[in-house]
Amino acid sequence: MKRILVTGSLGQIGSELVIELRKKYGIDNVIATGRRKPINNPVVDDGIYELLDVNDYDEFLRLAQKYQVNVIIHLAAVLSAKAEENPLASWHINMDTLLNALEVSRITNSMLFTCSSIGAFGPNSPKDHTPQDTIMRPTTMYGITKVAQELLCDYYFLKYNVDTRSVRFPGLISNVTKPGGGTTDYAVHIYYDALEKGKYTSFIDKNTYLDMMYMPDAIKCIIDLIEADANKLIHRNAYNVSAMSIEPEMIATSIKKHLPNFVLDYEVDPIRQNIANSWPNSLDTSIAKKEWNFSYQYDLDKMTSDMLKVLQNKKGCK
Ligand code: SER
Repeated sequence: MKRILVTGSLGQIGSELVIELRKKYGIDNVIATGRRKPINNPVVDDGIYELLDVNDYDEFLRLAQKYQVNVIIHLAAVLSAKAEENPLASWHINMDTLLNALEVSRITNSMLFTCSSIGAFGPNSPKDHTPQDTIMRPTTMYGITKVAQELLCDYYFLKYNVDTRSVRFPGLISNVTKPGGGTTDYAVHIYYDALEKGKYTSFIDKNTYLDMMYMPDAIKCIIDLIEADANKLIHRNAYNVSAMSIEPEMIATSIKKHLPNFVLDYEVDPIRQNIANSWPNSLDTSIAKKEWNFSYQYDLDKMTSDMLKVLQNKKGCK
């Protein structure tokens, strides 16, 4: 049976993943961790929750050993736009915590799942149907930490036989916890503002295509990959995954099917636009399909219907 420790449990992915893991593996087999202990939060209240600063290696190891975990899902990280504000500090946070996760996994003989990103690619990677294996020279600190992470995951697998698994997530669109400081965040904010204000001002320009995925598919992705047959996994660094390649006008058109008066305008942020311009338009996900049957359920319109329904219900509850 899997006993799973999750870092960064209160973040955009963690806050939904922990709930699903508890349903699938049982309340006692999921150890959610985070740096804060907010009140009235299901991640904290409805199962095991421990305070953990993942920079603190000793505490990280102590908790992994105390609960005898055999899977670590390491989610704590600084996202792309935030990392550009303070590149050196972001390097330290992303890399130091990754090394702690790798070492704790090695010592406790645990599988390690990490999140890589479309941000691991750079301006001279092929833009369309970006292959699994290709040139990777990112121009952001976030991307540099992701490439280094992928190399280290390969290294720990080859040298120490740590069962490392990872995906290159695209922009993730969610309705529980908003993302903090990413370039693809516009694709989340647009839905909140569509319902709250009837309009949205995008910091990413029209015709900027980026890969995206709805959070339920991202959660499925993580669970499918940690359940995958180890012998079939060749790409231990990280797999390309995506559910759609979209730009702001496409989301607006999809929203207008439900809210015909929705208005999208633009105030482009040059920093985040530059980051977006350096990333692929669309990833080739065929290797993930081949090695562990990667699949997704939500296309743009299906995601839009669900996002608006869930956010509308949340508004109704307030
Ligand atoms: N969503 C992330 C970001 O924009 C990309 O992986 O930083």
